Amino acid sequence: MAFARKDLGHGIGLRSKHYGRFLAEAPPVGWVEAVSENFLAPGGRPVAVLEKVRRDVPVVLHGVSLAIGSVDPLDRRLLRGLRELTDRVQPAYVSDHLCWGRHAGRYSHDLLPLPYTEEALAHVVSRVRQVQDVLGRQILLENVSSYVAYADSTLTEWEFLASVAEEADCGILLDVNNIFVSARNHGFDPDAYLAGIPDDRVGQFHLAGHSDHGTYLLDTHDAPVPDAVWELYRSALRRFGRVPALIEWDDHVPELERLVEESVRARAIEAEVLG
Ligand SMILES: [Fe+2]
Repeated sequence: MAFARKDLGHGIGLRSKHYGRFLAEAPPVGWVEAVSENFLAPGGRPVAVLEKVRRDVPVVLHGVSLAIGSVDPLDRRLLRGLRELTDRVQPAYVSDHLCWGRHAGRYSHDLLPLPYTEEALAHVVSRVRQVQDVLGRQILLENVSSYVAYADSTLTEWEFLASVAEEADCGILLDVNNIFVSARNHGFDPDAYLAGIPDDRVGQFHLAGHSDHGTYLLDTHDAPVPDAVWELYRSALRRFGRVPALIEWDDHVPELERLVEESVRARAIEAEVLG
């Protein structure tokens, strides 16, 4: 099967700080990304907000707890909830992270990187297929930022991500900031990463800020997109063409206008690069 990229334009994350604004008006954004786990419980204000937003613009559901690379069994309750939410919201995409974060029934709040081995690849591919069967649709997997690597890895991260997408027949959510952060932390070439990702699997970009700790970069999502990440976004646009891009700002969330301004900047850069 193939993967079909949607033409959504530029979006921002739906954060509780802005619920009131989203209820009262339709902010000028192309689409909105909502963290799936925040909307699993039926009823209440979050669901009312999501339903209103959904009437105004396309919604993407982005999960954080699928633990696709963990060896614990898949969380069937979570999957059932996600299926119900997906049926209700009819999102443009459903995504989660290429990582592990659960072991022996315990959750880590961190999105931990996998060893890039054939064994891990087969494991992840089989789990993506199971998730897609339950949801009745393709998912997108996002590259995480990382601070450690495994001596056992035999593939690069981009080879691993590309193989997961091809073999499991899913899409890729390429986080441009995460590539930048991991490239610096591990000393690889971010352009080699972009070159190694199959163009027809990329459905979405994330753009975010990070903090520089001298010897390493930390993926903090608490600041504007820095110039170096905008530069890598330009490279990604030249490589993949027009891809829906989201401004990810999760901590010290600014006023809505500031987020919209950042997404307008992304749109201007896209227009400049692609004409
Ligand atoms: Fe991201």
